[in-house]
Amino acid sequence: MVNQKLNKWVEEWAGIMKPEKVHWVNGSEEENQELFNQMVASGMAVKLNDEKRPGSYYFQSDPSDVARVEDRTFICSEKEEDAGPTNNWKAPKEMKEILLGKYEGCMKGRTMYVIPFSMGPLGSDIAQIGIQLTDSPYVVVNMGIMTRMGEAVLDVLGDGDFVPCIHSVGKPLQPGEKDVKWPCAPIEEKHISHFPETKEIWSYGSGYGGNALLGKKCFALRIASKMAKEEGWLAEHMLILGITNPEGVKKYFAAAFPSACGKTNLAMMVPNLPGWKVECVGDDIAWMKFGKDGKLYAINPEAGFFGVAPMTSMETNPNAMHSAEKNSVFTNTGLTPDGDIWWEGIGYDMPEGTINWKNGVHTADSDAPCAHPNARFTAPASQCPAIDPKWEDPAGVPIEAILFGGRRPSTVPLVHQAFSWAHGVFIGSIVGSEVTAAAIGLKAGTVRRDPFAMLPFCGYNMGDYFQHWIDTEKNAPDASKLPGIFYVNWFRKDDEGKWLWPGYGDNVRVLKWIFERLNGTADAQETAIGYLPNAEDIDVSGIEATKENLDELLSVDIEKWKTEVEGIKEHYAKFEDKLPEALKNELEGLEKRLG
Ligand code: OXD
Ligand code: MN
Repeated sequence: MVNQKLNKWVEEWAGIMKPEKVHWVNGSEEENQELFNQMVASGMAVKLNDEKRPGSYYFQSDPSDVARVEDRTFICSEKEEDAGPTNNWKAPKEMKEILLGKYEGCMKGRTMYVIPFSMGPLGSDIAQIGIQLTDSPYVVVNMGIMTRMGEAVLDVLGDGDFVPCIHSVGKPLQPGEKDVKWPCAPIEEKHISHFPETKEIWSYGSGYGGNALLGKKCFALRIASKMAKEEGWLAEHMLILGITNPEGVKKYFAAAFPSACGKTNLAMMVPNLPGWKVECVGDDIAWMKFGKDGKLYAINPEAGFFGVAPMTSMETNPNAMHSAEKNSVFTNTGLTPDGDIWWEGIGYDMPEGTINWKNGVHTADSDAPCAHPNARFTAPASQCPAIDPKWEDPAGVPIEAILFGGRRPSTVPLVHQAFSWAHGVFIGSIVGSEVTAAAIGLKAGTVRRDPFAMLPFCGYNMGDYFQHWIDTEKNAPDASKLPGIFYVNWFRKDDEGKWLWPGYGDNVRVLKWIFERLNGTADAQETAIGYLPNAEDIDVSGIEATKENLDELLSVDIEKWKTEVEGIKEHYAKFEDKLPEALKNELEGLEKRLG
């Protein structure tokens, strides 16, 4: 079927960006191989040792292009107030003028790839189709892992609508000019722009991760969050896991944590409790809609994991290590002399002669790490040994609990349950992580609020987003079937700075209490901040040493919570008249309960 609108759009942009060639990506294995061969030949990629890591490739980015660039990321709504206090804003017309100037001729000497991709299983009611134009073959092969990509998507699209995604690394080649290993534009030229009202993405100047794989943060969160608001569903920065108890009863949970709080580890954990099983539906993003039975169903719109490599090991996350055993892409890790990858915290010593992410031979006494702290693996979800049998079910999986969490060394207990949906939304809205002075120049102990872990990813005014979550209760076909909401905190420390909770596979003990609360079989005490387990309600069999920490882990320190309330007031002040009445009431309620 010919999609006139698509053909016209591709032609128009080829006219602006002036690539040497246009290549429609079909998604075949031959095409994938050919792209990798080209990148190896040009020096952009290194093929890893097939005996160690079959079908896998290694990349080093430009040192200026290693992570998402939040201060170069824009929400371009017509009105500034619709982007809200937590986003960078520019008027669409102004941004388009700036970027059209940059896009003019930006693909000279390069191939323009046309990537049809589906976020979500092909043909699912919850899925959405995008078309990305890019001049980066690195982006094509990564999109091939992270999304359903190629010709089959065009068949599903027919003559329907798609989200147009424009991407260029912003480094045209003059005739005869030799390409660099990782082309990109200087930092001040990078623009990651979103037009939520017209559902368009224009990204310029970066070849890296969330800036360039436009299906992920740009589409599946920033644009999709706006679609979800308009259409009455939820697009969230949440993992999805399935948990089965020893009797074989299974439940699905979704969980939001700020970046770098161990989402991937939790999503595919190996539980340290006999008889319990955890399976992974997704590790980063959940799209949720009500099903005909009135329950909230979630799909993972992605098809792969784009995980942080450092500290991932057979100890911390064996399922992630197995997922990346083959057919994977590694970016900014170390490269060993025998053609494998290495990073800090991989669980074994660095082989001598390993090359670091800056392409120098790494020595153990070097101050800088061998792998960049944001070095990544891109691995197919289908290779995860703990992948859930329903991870590609077009109907999604029914969510029974929503968890929020952050890194909170003090104040926030190991787990508590919200009193109600509105109280749960309140909990989501106050999520944050405590920062160290070194991290971003804030006073140590300051909490950096990251509501719903969506701070960098909400495509519209966050106050309106809170209201959308509040309204979800009245829009629910049957409010009694809404998921329970819980606040977890694996990161409590004692006065000497020692962890109070073992974390990782032992977090299943907290999931078990949540599971049993949902079944109505676990006890709880009512406190000022929510329902908390009594010490005896948390199963510490096999880790009895932790028992003595439980009183501390499950205590509510009224004075600390009063300080917390002051912090929440400061945080809420930013949203001015967009702060929902319901959240003001929740905050007042908490203050009263604290006495
Ligand atoms: C990510 C992030 O890359 O949240 O997933 O930063
Ligand atoms: Mn993320």
